[in-house]
Amino acid sequence: MSEILRIDDLVVNYGGIEALRSVSVNVGKAESVLLVGANGAGKSTLINTIIGLVQPRAGKVWFDGADITAMPCAERGRIGIGYSPEGRRIFNSLTVEENIMAGSFGIPAREAARNLDWIMDTFPIVKERRKQPANQMSGGQQQIVAIARAVICMPKLLLLDEPFLGLAPVWIGQVGQVIRGLQARGTAILMTEQMARPALKLVERAYVLRSGEIRRSGPVEAIREVALAEEYL
Ligand SMILES: Nc1ncnc2c1ncn2[C@@H]1O[C@H](COP(=O)(O)OP(=O)(O)OP(=O)(O)O)[C@@H](O)[C@H]1O
Ligand SMILES: [Mg+2]
Repeated sequence: MSEILRIDDLVVNYGGIEALRSVSVNVGKAESVLLVGANGAGKSTLINTIIGLVQPRAGKVWFDGADITAMPCAERGRIGIGYSPEGRRIFNSLTVEENIMAGSFGIPAREAARNLDWIMDTFPIVKERRKQPANQMSGGQQQIVAIARAVICMPKLLLLDEPFLGLAPVWIGQVGQVIRGLQARGTAILMTEQMARPALKLVERAYVLRSGEIRRSGPVEAIREVALAEEYL
């Protein structure tokens, strides 16, 4: 399988804190990969480096064959990387539809409208609630809005930082269905989770990150026990 994302020997420091120490990760085209790790393992740091919010001290980020290590964040959105941040960061005063369209700058309005149609057909909750203020939504509904905002440009690669954080089981299931809808469309996904159990059902491969280092990686069947043990650290 050819790669959509390749990360080589990434090093990220915050002052004296070594958040990532020579981390290498790859994601194939249309593949779904999980990054599992406890609090402070470095999951968000890795995601934020891929989207360009954090600059690495060393190492390289390759997207679709191009070195994007020094590319500005906004440009990474335009070349096909979508990002749903930890904690969702929905705009409370905007409606569901306005929140989603806020992710569409950089593509023509007609294309955004077509993509919104696909999103509404695929995730009916968005259609039902499109005119409602986003702050009237439950946590799970807001997570779906955050993912919809991340995919309004139809990215080739979607980064999901802890999409299940704080969600009731029924909403974990619903958000999982949304992720499956995107997979069926051929979107490659790199997601992080502390809650490995539901996330492992959605991916082909996983990496275990601990204290800024990749400790294990492999196909889900081979990594399941190690990944589940990480939940309880
Ligand atoms: N802006 C920052 N300034 C200083 N240190 C930071 C900053 N962001 C993260 N860190 C530190 O870097 C390490 C990795 O943090 P990171 O947020 O990437 O972990 P995480 O795996 O996403 O954790 P969580 O599960 O809590 O979201 C931690 O030790 C954290 O305290
Ligand atoms: Mg995090």
